[in-house]
Amino acid sequence: MAETAKTASLQEETRIFNTPQDIIEYSNAYQWMKKKGFKTEMEMRKWCSDNYIEFWDEMAKTYADWSVPYTKVLDDSGKPYYKWFTGGKINVAYNAVDRHAKGAKKDKVAYHFIGEPVGDARDITYGQLYIEVNKMANALKGAGVVKGDRVVAYLPMIPELPITMLACAKIGAIHTIVFSGFSSGGLNSRVNDAEAKVVVTADGFYRRGKPLPLKPNVDEAMKTAPSVQKVVVVKRTGVAVPMTEGRDVYYDDFVKGQSEECETVMLDPEDRLFILYTSGTTGKPKGIEHAHGGYAVTPAQTTSWVMDVHDDDVFWCTADCGWITGHSYVVYGPLCLGASTILYEGSPDFPDLGRWWSIIEKYGVTVFYTAPTAIRMFMKTGEEFVKKYNLSKVRILASVGEPLNPEAYMWFRKNIGSDRAPIIDTWWQTETGCHVIAPLVMTPEKPGSVCFPLPGFNTDIFDEDANSVPLGYGGNIVQKTPWPSMLRAFFRDEVRYKKEYWDMYWQVKPGTYLAGDKATRDKDGYWWIQGRIDDVLKVAGHRISNAEVESAAVSHPKVAEAAVVGQPDEVKGEKIVAFVILRDGVAESPELAKEISVHVRKVLGPVAYPDKVYFVKDVPKTRSGKIMRRVIKAKALGKETGDLSALANPESVDNIPRIDL
Ligand code: WT7
Repeated sequence: MAETAKTASLQEETRIFNTPQDIIEYSNAYQWMKKKGFKTEMEMRKWCSDNYIEFWDEMAKTYADWSVPYTKVLDDSGKPYYKWFTGGKINVAYNAVDRHAKGAKKDKVAYHFIGEPVGDARDITYGQLYIEVNKMANALKGAGVVKGDRVVAYLPMIPELPITMLACAKIGAIHTIVFSGFSSGGLNSRVNDAEAKVVVTADGFYRRGKPLPLKPNVDEAMKTAPSVQKVVVVKRTGVAVPMTEGRDVYYDDFVKGQSEECETVMLDPEDRLFILYTSGTTGKPKGIEHAHGGYAVTPAQTTSWVMDVHDDDVFWCTADCGWITGHSYVVYGPLCLGASTILYEGSPDFPDLGRWWSIIEKYGVTVFYTAPTAIRMFMKTGEEFVKKYNLSKVRILASVGEPLNPEAYMWFRKNIGSDRAPIIDTWWQTETGCHVIAPLVMTPEKPGSVCFPLPGFNTDIFDEDANSVPLGYGGNIVQKTPWPSMLRAFFRDEVRYKKEYWDMYWQVKPGTYLAGDKATRDKDGYWWIQGRIDDVLKVAGHRISNAEVESAAVSHPKVAEAAVVGQPDEVKGEKIVAFVILRDGVAESPELAKEISVHVRKVLGPVAYPDKVYFVKDVPKTRSGKIMRRVIKAKALGKETGDLSALANPESVDNIPRIDL
């Protein structure tokens, strides 16, 4: 079986990078380790994972304030529907905002907001954030939003985005953030699945110096969105947009006159905080549910332990709040810790490739968290712009979303980290809510490896029969024990939740979570991520399912069928290639290929744009009609296609063209 084949030759990396001793000794995790009397990192990691309930109990008490203390850390009686912190009462918004605003951090900056137009920036203190959140929470209540209702935000990275999230949390409403790079179709399906009552959006946003419209996408999506009663529109660019009488209201008018105080509703720790849609194997995005209790604990704990954020740090996670990284490390993690964070609206290369570095210099960013695709983009464009800025305050660098290849690791280290900062490559998922496998500041790093599972996790690599594989072998990443910020279910679909994540090993080892990635461990036990086991693409770090792009392509009137695969790309990780079967009588042409790509972008948004469209007569399928994407990919890339005996139409493989690299 391919998954269990020995992969010893895979990782021959011999370089090891040790973090300078002063940075290690200053780090939060190291100090905890010393306080507890552990002699080595491995001894600490092992104890925390063996005693994960005790560990998470201590973390929950350290990082979160509970209005009513919980009586049980973990209730696993109904697995895999785990419950954490039973008997307690909490609200993550209290932890993220209220307690700081009412305490010593009232005048501390929560967000350094930086708009894309140069000079358009403002700082928001915890005291100010408190007022803004309260006004929005009161306005939402005024619009009839009650506990458990869903509110969609479809916004650029402007302060109203975290404010809306926190306002929802405060009153027990459930937020669903839809990435502003999704099209009206993507917004429509999410709004309808969540049955959202309110949509918060903006007239537009700035991208590479140009104001771009956003509201027209909302109007299009609202044509078939019967649950939506109100659309709240932030004036960001000031361009006139059509407003629908009775439904649409400008944000300023919505919050005008609202009280600056609003009661924070204390909730059951299992009450849902948000739904975030992510891509799975099928064309329909999954609404991943997360809960208040867990989210008040692990994002903050990992921001402290893994990102090593201290009180006087300036943290910058470049992710958009439309993705899980933004939820955990732009909003809940740093705010619960009471840290100062950058919120940047624009792209990394406007007005030039020095924009990010200028922000790091100006704001004295000390902890910088970004994605491999961005690092590789900078690597490709050279060091000229990096050299113009003083990045010497950067103490910690971190990466997420896809494998950080050793070349990119080295570039990041040398050019941004002054050859001193550790690089924390964090593996985790929308489903996990927080980091799961990563080095700590004290861990000796191997470039390209995510090092080890974090304290509190019992992560392993299983073969098909639920045996842990020996060092040097590959297999499925699993979690053998639950963790506080784990997903709780799919919105209104608990059955599919169990099926997708827990059924694989249920017969042998019930309570084993299947992550959906493959990994291997080298002779020293270092972990190397090998990629998804399902048909999910990673394009510039964004998770997109092959099936979603296929169904978007098929919605073009001239397309009969489509098969989509990822082609390796040195900057984006993968790019999208579509093999399209046209309807009878339709002529192939380069214009039509382009038209299909544009159509997919219109349906799903720019993140899902197919770079290439090839016309084929047939695609390989199994007898049950499943498209064999693996075979298509192998043929297209000129690799071994392997055993074709399962195919219903083996001859179709011949007509898959070799794609130009
Ligand atoms: C998938 C989850 C978690 C925040 C961003 C993405 C891949 C994530 C790494 C990493 C190699 C990684 C996995 C995972 N992935 N981090 N450090 N090295 N691969 O969240 O959209 O839910 O995607 O991203 O394949 O399953 P997501």
